[in-house]
Amino acid sequence: MSLLQGLRVLVTAGPTYEDIDPARFIGNRSSGKMGFALADQAAKLGAEVVLVAGPVNLTTPENVTRIDVRSAAQMYDAVMASLPADFYIGAAAVADFRPARYASIKIKKQDEDDGLTLELEQTQDILKSVANAEMRPSLVCGFAAETHEVETYAQGKLDRKNLDLIAANRVGIENSGFESDNNTIYVFTRGLDGKQQFGPASKYDVARSLLEYMAQLQSQRQG
Ligand code: C5P
Repeated sequence: MSLLQGLRVLVTAGPTYEDIDPARFIGNRSSGKMGFALADQAAKLGAEVVLVAGPVNLTTPENVTRIDVRSAAQMYDAVMASLPADFYIGAAAVADFRPARYASIKIKKQDEDDGLTLELEQTQDILKSVANAEMRPSLVCGFAAETHEVETYAQGKLDRKNLDLIAANRVGIENSGFESDNNTIYVFTRGLDGKQQFGPASKYDVARSLLEYMAQLQSQRQG
């Protein structure tokens, strides 16, 4: 199938790790499986695919160009350097905060009872930057992993981040989200009422459905 022939698809996947000191980091829970499934299926549908991956333990899908990064700042640079693209899909669980300072020597425990206060600063929002970039892809799709009120948060993100689509999934339930091989997503589209549900199914099947939906949306908008 060559539904995405001639299109360049840029996907992010996995977590980012924000280093505190040489031995410790802050990160999000993410296996990267959904993003890798999207890259794999986009390549199978004929797209030229660039996959920017945080630290994950997954093999590179066939016919996909993979760029490995560790931090949100590195992911931002790799994504921006990979534009232009026709579709951007931000499936990475990018850390929202990073330590304001990196300690080049491992932080030691002081007194028995002493805690440690870490100062955090916000990372740059990659998705929002792509959606507002001069070389904005024609379809920008974000992911939203929520534990509750999925719909309200997803709709809010669609507007706030200037997205075309947002794929929301419930986390914290069995057989969905994080480390699972399966997923269910609810896709909200700018300018359209209601939502599309893809799954419950394997992340590969969910990925294919989302890409087919994006291809359809793209041709509707062009036609
Ligand atoms: O607002 P929230 O972080 O939940 O939004 C999730 C979406 O935003 C995901 O698509 C994620 O890849 C993206 N994101 C990003 N850069 C950040 C934080 C989130 O691209 N710093």
